Amino acid sequence: MKRVYIEDFPRHVGEEVEVAGWLYNQRGSNKFRFLLVRDGTGIVQSVCSREEKGDEFFEFAKALTQETSILVRGTIKQDDRAPGGYELVLTDLEKVADSVDYPISPKEHGVDFLMNNRHLWLRSSKQHAILRIRHEVIRAIRDFFNERGFINFDTPMFTPNAVEGTTTLFSTEYFDSIAYLTQSGQLYAEAGAMAFGKVYTFGPTFRAEKSKTRRHLTEFWMIEPEVAYLDLAGDMDLAEDMTVFVVQRVLQNRQTELKALDRDLSKLESIQKPFPRLHYDEACEVLMAYQKEHPDEEEAKFEPGEDFGGRHETILASAYDRPVFVTHFPAEIKAFYMKRDPEQTDRVLGFDMLGPEGYGELIGGSVREDDLDVLLGRIREHELPEEPFNWYLDLRRYGSVPHAGFGLGLERTITWICGRDHLREAIPFPRMMYRMTP
Ligand code: 4AD
Ligand code: MG
Repeated sequence: MKRVYIEDFPRHVGEEVEVAGWLYNQRGSNKFRFLLVRDGTGIVQSVCSREEKGDEFFEFAKALTQETSILVRGTIKQDDRAPGGYELVLTDLEKVADSVDYPISPKEHGVDFLMNNRHLWLRSSKQHAILRIRHEVIRAIRDFFNERGFINFDTPMFTPNAVEGTTTLFSTEYFDSIAYLTQSGQLYAEAGAMAFGKVYTFGPTFRAEKSKTRRHLTEFWMIEPEVAYLDLAGDMDLAEDMTVFVVQRVLQNRQTELKALDRDLSKLESIQKPFPRLHYDEACEVLMAYQKEHPDEEEAKFEPGEDFGGRHETILASAYDRPVFVTHFPAEIKAFYMKRDPEQTDRVLGFDMLGPEGYGELIGGSVREDDLDVLLGRIREHELPEEPFNWYLDLRRYGSVPHAGFGLGLERTITWICGRDHLREAIPFPRMMYRMTP
């Protein structure tokens, strides 16, 4: 018999097929059993009647427990009342393997329990939907850059130096020396941009974040485009185009999953160009005004010159129905490689893109310092060792050009699109300060 995936049912209505999957759940009476069968691509309901199938078959079906692996055979019938819009009219049922005392029952469980059972929790409908959306987001990002002539440029995980500050480095033995797990592929992507014009990285990055916030993982995936001869405005245009493209793709292809997550679609439909662009000084004014109105709110306290905390990002973004760019941060609070604004030399030609609905920074980007002596000075100011950066400085010795890029946090983007409140659900096996298992 032909084996068909549940997501392909619309093309096989009326046919007798086999579904290879697991029992998601069952309910019913002593006369009828409604078996919900999942196969990884969807869930379908199959009805078993005692009268039709006889006592032995009926009792066999009734005794099947949650997550037993089964082969179900039947005819596909369109039925608007059934979950998913189709029903499998049962003819035969075969058990593959038992599932005894499956730990995740349909009742509510605490997050810690679910995280300890992450390897099984992945089968639950919401987690399943989030990770299918993750897949769509990854595909969309790759398509976006591939369609625009970017070269995929893979960068190393073992590195000899810091990129984004020395306080969040993971170090590991590397034969007779020490290696750091990469915080960002950017410096290597810059070499790629000088060789290929426009490149993007797509890979895991690591930060020893000693924070327990819902926005931080210690291992997360980052996408970093880098483009020769690109300026700040062009860099933001690229970030904006990419974000709109990705959201549109998910809206087009993942309606079922968004519905399973009860996502408010209007919030995603409003993600259209242009995104507002706010100078850091304007952002400060907004924050100072807010503080004046809410003098008792501890988390909202702010002094111009400081970096934004999560609460500040939420306040700034709350005025808009789409992401907002904040530009020209004080150089003091930003990375050594960012180019200064010649018109305002204590500021950098960089931006953060803040997501709406309180999701915080989704993207950080900048123009890179392209002058050899200035860059060398910055490396010294930041008290970074010079030797590991020697190759990076070569990019300024041999045909240096203005260039820019950004880094998109994959899990932050997924969490936002899915409307979830913690990054831990946006990756199959999250790594956080207090969690490395399963
Ligand atoms: O702003 P960040 O630190 O920028 C860079 O790493 C640059 N080198 C990027 C570039 O210009 N090529 O990080 C970029 C993004 C953030 O906006 C955020 O979305 C995400 O990476 N991110 C994290 N995501 C999850 N957990 C963490 N601990 C993260 N730290 C940053
Ligand atoms: Mg940043």
